[in-house]
Amino acid sequence: MNSVRPVSPERLPELLRLMPKAELHIHIEGSLEPELIFALAKRNGVALPYASVDELRSAYAFTNLQSFLDIYYAGASVLLTEQDFYDMARAYFLKAAADHVVHAELFFDPQTHTARGVSMETVVRGLHRACVDAQAGQGISASLIMCFLRHLSEEEAFETLEQALPYRELIVGVGLDSGEVGNPPEKFARVFARCRELGLHLVAHAGEEGPPAYIWTALDLLKVERIDHGVQAAKDPALMQRLARDRIALTVCPLSNLKLCVFPDLAQHNLRQLLDAGLAATVNSDDPAYFGGYMNDNFTQTFAATGMQASHAWALASNSFEASFAGQADKRKNLDSLAACFETFS
Ligand code: HPA
Ligand code: ZN
Repeated sequence: MNSVRPVSPERLPELLRLMPKAELHIHIEGSLEPELIFALAKRNGVALPYASVDELRSAYAFTNLQSFLDIYYAGASVLLTEQDFYDMARAYFLKAAADHVVHAELFFDPQTHTARGVSMETVVRGLHRACVDAQAGQGISASLIMCFLRHLSEEEAFETLEQALPYRELIVGVGLDSGEVGNPPEKFARVFARCRELGLHLVAHAGEEGPPAYIWTALDLLKVERIDHGVQAAKDPALMQRLARDRIALTVCPLSNLKLCVFPDLAQHNLRQLLDAGLAATVNSDDPAYFGGYMNDNFTQTFAATGMQASHAWALASNSFEASFAGQADKRKNLDSLAACFETFS
């Protein structure tokens, strides 16, 4: 579609909700709702430092990334069995289907679990089974991206990669997450080089709180194909040109940025600026159970706050399919169904 016809302001939220979309930046441990945290704590006999679901939820007042990560890792401590990982991902896929997500690439943090004695096999098999069922039941194509925790060492990342090798065929790529500032991409250059040799796709969080320099090194030293977040790129015009020229997708997460105080309010979010500068930005939920919304909440709230139009919706959804690690035939099919959806609104 070369030109997108305007859609009236009243109908725009409906278009945003109904259009097919891909989610490329979701930490599956960040989809763990407080109710499920309590249910799994009970099932597994894990003690929580919160008396109730409400008390836990009231702790979700974050000031920056680290203040969130402390609570996020505590929440993940209830996950012990393969069924726990399945149940968590299953709940996410049902929410994703309701938001017309037709393709999802799930981040998972194995080191959060292996450090507690949970095996890589338990984690990967539970998540993979949920991916298989999402395809069969909801028609969502889904794959797994294993993230290295950047606050840990290169040696620990190599050990994690070693543990994942028996499940290589169940993992589409690797990523880099956790506390960004002080843990630059170059710390993991050798691990990423090895992952590249293994044929894994490469992504990394960069420019969420960290400087544009981290985006440059993620591109040039890690050789990533997408940048997760990347919103700090707007501070560096040469970097903006590079990202636009090479069509490097940014997996932007507006409600996450709001809740972690990267932007003071959604009206000041730079998603529209990134798109208007020709960057391949996408919209994603990051850790929806913690940040107050899944995919459609991110779309509708950000459009309402920034005045973006149907043409931006088209760009965001088509970018999400083009930047995905799905096969060419799946990408084509999803882009065709996106076009068909927009036709019904013209
Ligand atoms: N940034 C870095 N690490 C993370 C995030 C995030 O937004 N969510 C879960 N781990
Ligand atoms: Zn993230």
